[in-house]
Amino acid sequence: MFLRDELGHLRPSGLFLRGVRTVRLHHVVEAQEFNRGMLEELFAIAGEMERAVWEGGSKLLDDKIMASLFYEESTRTRFSFETAMHRLGGSVISTENARQFSSVSKGETLEDTIRIMNGYADVIVMRHYESGAARRAADVSRVPIINAGDGTGQHPTQAFLDLYTIQKELGHLDDLEIAVVGDLANGRTVRSLCYLLAKYRNVRIHLVAPEVVRMRQDIKDYLARHDVWFQEETNLRVIARTVDVVYQTRIQKERFGDRADDYRAAQGVYVIDRDLVESMKPASIVMHPLPRVDEITVEVDSDRRAAYFRQAQNGLYIRMALLAGCLGKDLEPLITEARTTSNG
Ligand code: CP
Repeated sequence: MFLRDELGHLRPSGLFLRGVRTVRLHHVVEAQEFNRGMLEELFAIAGEMERAVWEGGSKLLDDKIMASLFYEESTRTRFSFETAMHRLGGSVISTENARQFSSVSKGETLEDTIRIMNGYADVIVMRHYESGAARRAADVSRVPIINAGDGTGQHPTQAFLDLYTIQKELGHLDDLEIAVVGDLANGRTVRSLCYLLAKYRNVRIHLVAPEVVRMRQDIKDYLARHDVWFQEETNLRVIARTVDVVYQTRIQKERFGDRADDYRAAQGVYVIDRDLVESMKPASIVMHPLPRVDEITVEVDSDRRAAYFRQAQNGLYIRMALLAGCLGKDLEPLITEARTTSNG
């Protein structure tokens, strides 16, 4: 599906779909609602979207409006969703700080805001500071709700792009050995990622976290129920030598409230530096949902194994695929556009 160009970048190498016309989605709230078949279709469509972007975009969603409703800060998720909509010819209505600049500041409930937005937009992409907020929104929404991160709950679209990145970079999702590192208690990205990894065969997960932010029991129970091998570890330098993926995360200062001592105990415990990366297998990768603070030193960025900026780029293609799926679009026009372009 992908070829490396002369600069070593992965490029889509042709039509992916082979009969996949769309993936039909409605709300996207929790990662575990997706099965392997849906993920394969989503990744095939993301490959098509990647090609469409390279060829100048598409008009697939030119009759659709996306609302981006963000109650928490974001760089990648908000901008990539908005770019995704623009690249597909759609329109965007947006508030960059819904807590301050929407009527929630006057006391409006989330449910009422969603009911109102249903009259304006065809799909709502929402980030919220409370775990479970996306489910509450979906429960009252006629139009699709896409969870762009809800507190310490989940971040399913990040997990989709994470798997898509692993598939592209390593060529497989089964038989994977991965270390997830850092703030596993508060990190919604690693929670969603664990739910998805559990769908693949022979996956081994090392959970490497400072004592105060160890993975919560619900995820460990889920992995155990699904017969996924996992182990809590402390020595990242040893684990890093054998795994296929080191998935680093930021210690999320904003989740600690007045527990400053706990934050200090977690901060700086696991740092990925050049020495650590050079000890990793040549074909392995370092991932991070970003933003980073100092948990990956900048000298690592130039190593081929540093996949985190490519990972963020993949978010655009996955989110284009999700929007097409949520808006019920058949991809035939996209394929026709591709054929027209390739025929000159
Ligand atoms: N990975 C991620 O969710 O980044 P943002 O917070 O910048 O959207």
